[in-house]
Amino acid sequence: MSDDSRPSPSAGPSAARTAAVIPAAGRGVRLGPGAPKALRALNGTPMLIHAVRAMAASRAVSLVVVVAPPDGAAEVRSLLDAHALPERTDFLVVPGGQSRQESVKLGLDALPPGHDIVLVHDAARPLVPVDTVDAVIEAVRDGAPAVVPALPLADTVKQVEPAGTPGEPEPVVATPERALLRAVQTPQGFDRATLVRAHETVTGEVTDDAGMVEQLGLTVVAVPGHEEAFKVTRPLDLVLAEAVLARRRLNDGF
Ligand code: C5P
Repeated sequence: MSDDSRPSPSAGPSAARTAAVIPAAGRGVRLGPGAPKALRALNGTPMLIHAVRAMAASRAVSLVVVVAPPDGAAEVRSLLDAHALPERTDFLVVPGGQSRQESVKLGLDALPPGHDIVLVHDAARPLVPVDTVDAVIEAVRDGAPAVVPALPLADTVKQVEPAGTPGEPEPVVATPERALLRAVQTPQGFDRATLVRAHETVTGEVTDDAGMVEQLGLTVVAVPGHEEAFKVTRPLDLVLAEAVLARRRLNDGF
């Protein structure tokens, strides 16, 4: 059922404009050998194109910046040219860096003025539904400096003392209360100035952008994520993604 009751974050004259940065420069080694992960096909279309369409599906998003593999910007540009994308959205391609963090920073540096809300979305999450994208934007518009879509965990999580050798038993040191934990997805949404400040001040390894905003001492809020926003990481995830697309085709057919 479509959620027509929720106000859509359409870009009115006074509404903040939203840009999406898509880091797509990773090799995706856990997926096995082959092309960079973002360029692998799902149902015949590169994962990156699915991710770009997922961002452009929101009427609030007027610009998508794709951060390409450092030596692959030209290839990504021709890929975007070769696929149908909404006319109301502009696209930019910039070369990425050695880490995800560096790639996001390079995408932010390329943003023209006039976009006050920034989404950061992994190319590896090609199937996030537009309602999730819109919910993140809405929460930033409502005043949160940083917003993450998040889901409760099915598995209990243990903290371990990592073994020196892979495969060796690892001592468990703690069991955080599962009800208080969330698995965090993308797009993560930010007030632009906050995200720029986070990338300029926070150093050290982080696995998501909201974590950098937390390090600034600001509040990050979580909104409900979606099971279809999963990250394509391992070979089995490709099978799941194809199944989700097949289900969508079936549902669209009726
Ligand atoms: O490796 P992981 O799955 O966490 O990567 C998340 C996202 O960050 C992917 O979309 C990947 O392409 C991107 N990335 C990047 N630049 C890097 C490494 C990862 O844009 N150097």
